[in-house]
Amino acid sequence: MRSVENFQFIACGTAYHAALVGRGLLEHFGISAAADFASEFTDRARLLGKGTLVVAISQSGETADTIFAVREAKAAGARVLAITNTVGSTLTREADYVLHTHCGPEIGVASTKAFLGQLAAIYLVAGHFAAVKGRLDKTDARAYADELLRIPRHIEEILVREPEIEKIAASFSSSEHFLFISRRLNFPIALEGALKIKEISYVHAEGYAAGEMKHGPIAIIYKGMPLLAVAPSSSALDLMAGNIEEAKARGADVVAIVDEVSRKTIKAARYIVLPHTKEIFSPLLTVIPLQLFAYHVALAKKCDIDKPRNLAKSVTVR
Ligand code: M6R
Repeated sequence: MRSVENFQFIACGTAYHAALVGRGLLEHFGISAAADFASEFTDRARLLGKGTLVVAISQSGETADTIFAVREAKAAGARVLAITNTVGSTLTREADYVLHTHCGPEIGVASTKAFLGQLAAIYLVAGHFAAVKGRLDKTDARAYADELLRIPRHIEEILVREPEIEKIAASFSSSEHFLFISRRLNFPIALEGALKIKEISYVHAEGYAAGEMKHGPIAIIYKGMPLLAVAPSSSALDLMAGNIEEAKARGADVVAIVDEVSRKTIKAARYIVLPHTKEIFSPLLTVIPLQLFAYHVALAKKCDIDKPRNLAKSVTVR
């Protein structure tokens, strides 16, 4: 850890969204990090330096794009840390270091608990690294760990609210298009919310950086378009509130994912209210209602949730 200067995440699909959270988290601590799709990594691999730790994230540990990218990174002289759920997988054999997420077998094609497990591992790595590099002193490191330990209880509180989420999802069961927007550390969660609904409900969904909406995509909003705005307490909350107003003015039907504090700032037709946590930990909570939302939209549409069409659990071709 002491010899690591910066991080390069590589992953695919949902694991890539976890990687984006990892990048944001490390940057929050002032540590340089990049995140790339493993399938688009080729040229960047050649630019890796010795001080870069490559973090390859893969639930299955068998994703061909990720394994190929790891080989390229190693050929360039980089060290590789694998974060995977699968003991003995190809990725564990190729990597220099391995962190197992131990989520248990994930049967459904759509990655859910594996995503949270990946995030948990990333939060541990980032917190530890920040402490090693002196970016978190002893007291702050303790507070960081304590907040992380409170997350499972918060998740249980969210799960109790599933019937509310089901009701909102049912009201959108015939919608053909969904938008998910957010900012900063929750932008990857907007991407993940959109991916989940695409995978298991077969509807068009886009995750977008809220601030980018005005640069083009706002044109697609029509009256009644479902828009899920991930807006927990954050230093970008006022900007987020403005983006939600812009979408509402074009007719978006907004469901805001807020916490008890940010709810006072965000004006939406409907809310999913989460327990409050510090800004940097919020992705661990905001993704839960989006996973449940996708599940209930798919259920209402009578889709096969565990085995969605056209998809395989592990993608072993490039
Ligand atoms: O096994 P992996 O984590 O490497 O898989 C990567 C992606 O194929 C995977 O996350 C995919 O996007 C999921 N089906 C998403 O739910």
